[in-house]
Amino acid sequence: MSMAPQELENSASRYAGEAIKCDSQGARGMAIANYQKAIDSLVRLMHLYPRSKLNQLYKERTTSYQKRIKALRESGSVEPAIDPRASPSEAKAGMDTQSAKKDFDDLIMKEKPDISWNEVIGLDAVKTALRESIVYPSKRPELFPLGWPRGILLYGPPGCGKTILAAATASEIDGYFINVDAASMMSKWLGEAEKNVAKLFTMAGGYAEREDKPVILFIDEVDSLLGSRNTEVGGESRLKTQFLIGMDGIKDKGKKIKLYVIGATNKPWSLDQPFLRRFQKRIYVDLPTDEARKKIFELYTDPLNKDPKLRTPMLAKLFEGYSASDIKDACQAAQLMVVHELFNAPGYSEPVEGEESPRPRDISMADFRDILARRKPSVSNEMRLAYHKWSQDFQAS
Ligand SMILES: Nc1ncnc2c1ncn2[C@@H]1O[C@H](COP(=O)(O)OP(=O)(O)OP(=O)(O)O)[C@@H](O)[C@H]1O
Ligand SMILES: [Mg+2]
Repeated sequence: MSMAPQELENSASRYAGEAIKCDSQGARGMAIANYQKAIDSLVRLMHLYPRSKLNQLYKERTTSYQKRIKALRESGSVEPAIDPRASPSEAKAGMDTQSAKKDFDDLIMKEKPDISWNEVIGLDAVKTALRESIVYPSKRPELFPLGWPRGILLYGPPGCGKTILAAATASEIDGYFINVDAASMMSKWLGEAEKNVAKLFTMAGGYAEREDKPVILFIDEVDSLLGSRNTEVGGESRLKTQFLIGMDGIKDKGKKIKLYVIGATNKPWSLDQPFLRRFQKRIYVDLPTDEARKKIFELYTDPLNKDPKLRTPMLAKLFEGYSASDIKDACQAAQLMVVHELFNAPGYSEPVEGEESPRPRDISMADFRDILARRKPSVSNEMRLAYHKWSQDFQAS
């Protein structure tokens, strides 16, 4: 069965969400099966786009699910790193030990994703907001006597750039970037994810304070960790409470530390009030504008052989309502089409050394019209309306 990349991404996060749920309820077998399915989807996604800038992030996620599977298989040997009976002050005192440092180092993304702001097309207001809230206060905290927002929520339809924006922020800052996925929250202490969260905030705060560098906690698909659909599970609601405490702790420390939480979600309505309040900036990452679609077409058709009559402004008009990732997929589909034709052409022969290899024909407007007829935009009008409605009530940029 073949799946579009966006569907693969969605199914990976669905399986991961399911895995976390089973994991927190102690259903080990189901958790393992779901983590494995999430891994499979991510691996297929990386296969499909071997050069995607997000692969670093997906790889980290795959590793964290694999580790979790391993821990679950060996369970019994899953030791709590902090004695759950220890008092908070003891836990704090233990923080400076080598092992705590190693735990924290494990969480930090070693290789930052190699993606720059310029590669994120359009979304200028969002980029400015991220810069204003993270870069300026990091450089000149004294200019912000009233403090600055520490929680930033990026919300909007799938495939419009929330994750790549966070990745670009990571590569921009001279500091630490922690990709907090739910599996790594669960990974060390089965059923004690909330302790993990507490520890995470304490350690991240400690680093931000001691080294005076920004530390970003990035929670992708934040609804899977903090969404209200999880309330039935006792452990998870404790986890949510711990998150709230952690986020309040950042505010209390005031200007002394540069610690930020960036959350991304395409289901903002599943976050409840207490969280929304703590994400003081809530930024809508919308579908690309006409101008942005044109640039996205330029970007993704750049390496392809094009008919000189191919017009990107025209393509941008044709693909109104399509997301950035839909457009990327359409360009890939065009490429597949001409390569398929090449291989299946009568008389096709393998390249011979010394002779010019046979090349696919140029991609034309007609090809894109063909693709357009076969693909619906991944975001329906209904969904767009839902985002707009939610924005009216909750946007805070
Ligand atoms: N603004 C953009 N400019 C250029 N490419 C983009 C943009 N938005 C998305 N893409 C392309 O689409 C792919 C998916 O984008 P991304 O993962 O950031 O979407 P998302 O908003 O996080 O979606 P989801 O809500 O499903 O997680 C990216 O790898 C990138 O190639
Ligand atoms: Mg995303």
